[in-house]
Amino acid sequence: VVHNITDSTNNQLMQRVTEGVIDTLGYTLVAEAQTAGRGRRGRNWYSPFGASLYFSMYWRLEQGIQSAMGLSLVIALAVVRLLKRQYQLDAKVKWPNDVYVDGKKLAGILVELAGQAHAGCNVIIGIGLNIRLPKQAAEKIDQQYIDLNTVTVQHIDRNSLVAQLQQQLVAILTDFSHSGFDNYVEEFNTHNQYQQRVVKLSGNEEVEGMCLGVDNQGALLIKTDMGIKNYYGGELSLRLG
Ligand code: ATP
Ligand code: BTN
Repeated sequence: VVHNITDSTNNQLMQRVTEGVIDTLGYTLVAEAQTAGRGRRGRNWYSPFGASLYFSMYWRLEQGIQSAMGLSLVIALAVVRLLKRQYQLDAKVKWPNDVYVDGKKLAGILVELAGQAHAGCNVIIGIGLNIRLPKQAAEKIDQQYIDLNTVTVQHIDRNSLVAQLQQQLVAILTDFSHSGFDNYVEEFNTHNQYQQRVVKLSGNEEVEGMCLGVDNQGALLIKTDMGIKNYYGGELSLRLG
């Protein structure tokens, strides 16, 4: 379903799923612009008309909330695979939810829970993928960012990109739902933006150490003088140390 201007495609889809109007796996809502596009923790997602994909898809986690960590990472890998296949780009993932190209943020992922289903839980998968941002974006976005138009000379067909992204997501999530995150650990680590780099993880506590990738739940592995520890979590932020 395509909206012209909306507050947030995640809000719109969340409302329909909560009302019980939508329960079709893979149902997708996109918009040309968002007036209240959101990132994690209430941060703003800059969403000018026609400049990006503003994409939300419905899915159900049959295994329940404990698999949400891996879910966020396989979604990022779906975007990475698509960028490779369509544009031969070598994109990376910044754990847990950003897709980077040339060290800059190209896409962000926002996974939100939409209450309990009969089995498992309903999730709204939101993806913002920059296509052709206007110059003013520099005043609105407080970190290094990039758009597809800057990194490929190929023609970008947004309609076909939406369709491909939806297909790629349904394929990877179907496999993830059956087989879990195990099969994706290696793929994640080879596309980890900070693999074998010294990083700083902040949230409730702050830790600095070597980033060793993820474990088979999708938790981040960091090595410090105290040994290797795994970190779960929606509320954590990762930076170079
Ligand atoms: P982390 O999730 O690790 O804290 P983050 O700083 O990227 O990383 P997010 O909440 O994931 O935070 O994303 C929101 C941030 O993304 C905004 O604060 C802004 O810096 C940036 N941002 C907003 N709009 C865009 C956009 N269209 N393209 C790229 N980056 C954007
Ligand atoms: C992030 O980097 O924190 C995630 C950004 C997610 C942005 C997308 S755009 C489509 C969907 N609707 C929203 O309001 N947010 C997501």
